[in-house]
Amino acid sequence: MNVVQQPKTLSERADELEHHMEEELERIVTKSLLFNLADGKVSMDSSAALNAKYPGKYMLMGDDPRLPKMPAKPTLLDYFHHRFASMNHLLQSATHALKAGLPEKTILACLLHDIGVTGFIRADHGYWGAQMIEPYVDEEVSWAVRVHQALRFFPDESVGYKYPDMYVKNFGPDYQPEPYIVREYEAARKHKWYMTARQICVNDIYSFDPNAKVDINDFVDIVGRHFRQPAEGLGWDSSPSAHMWRTLMRPTRFL
Ligand SMILES: [Fe+2]
Ligand SMILES: [Fe+2]
Repeated sequence: MNVVQQPKTLSERADELEHHMEEELERIVTKSLLFNLADGKVSMDSSAALNAKYPGKYMLMGDDPRLPKMPAKPTLLDYFHHRFASMNHLLQSATHALKAGLPEKTILACLLHDIGVTGFIRADHGYWGAQMIEPYVDEEVSWAVRVHQALRFFPDESVGYKYPDMYVKNFGPDYQPEPYIVREYEAARKHKWYMTARQICVNDIYSFDPNAKVDINDFVDIVGRHFRQPAEGLGWDSSPSAHMWRTLMRPTRFL
């Protein structure tokens, strides 16, 4: 009987390529559950299954050779260059704040407001981003980054901030923020740093111009003055969020 070979699906070919790449690596690169969840799979490979699949190989416990090499003592800017998916949006937002003559702490908040999205995890990005920077910046900066997550959904006519058209396009006209976001917004409105967080939104909304000229070097001094770079390197220090930076540095470590 003749068996007709079915052409491989795109995902079968992607799996094959991935397996091929894994075999070429000296160590076993593993995917955390979170990476699989993003592919719709509630599962992960056990060490027994991996040992059977790659006999004689050790698990990866250090740098992933497929990713750009990080310096021994990474700085915040090294993460911008080697780990963040893009910095354009952040630079545009910070440039807008710089041109508006806002305080340096607000400019830094604009520069870092979406590192949750471009550098870690989209969902609840304001919370993740704030947690990552909290030990290294003034409380006002991390607070503003956290609550911009909620403020983005609520207009403030006093500063000309409207509900973003982009949200109507992305989430539909009927989207309503969850109760925890509403609570965060209501508390933030009464907070002494409300306007710092609001400025993130004001400088965010107009900053999607692909032709705008932006340069990370415009912010090196502000980062130097307001971001406490740990001597050991960001991720190798002992701050409460150092592990998040280490994970970003080496996201496929076995443990
Ligand atoms: Fe954001
Ligand atoms: Fe943004």
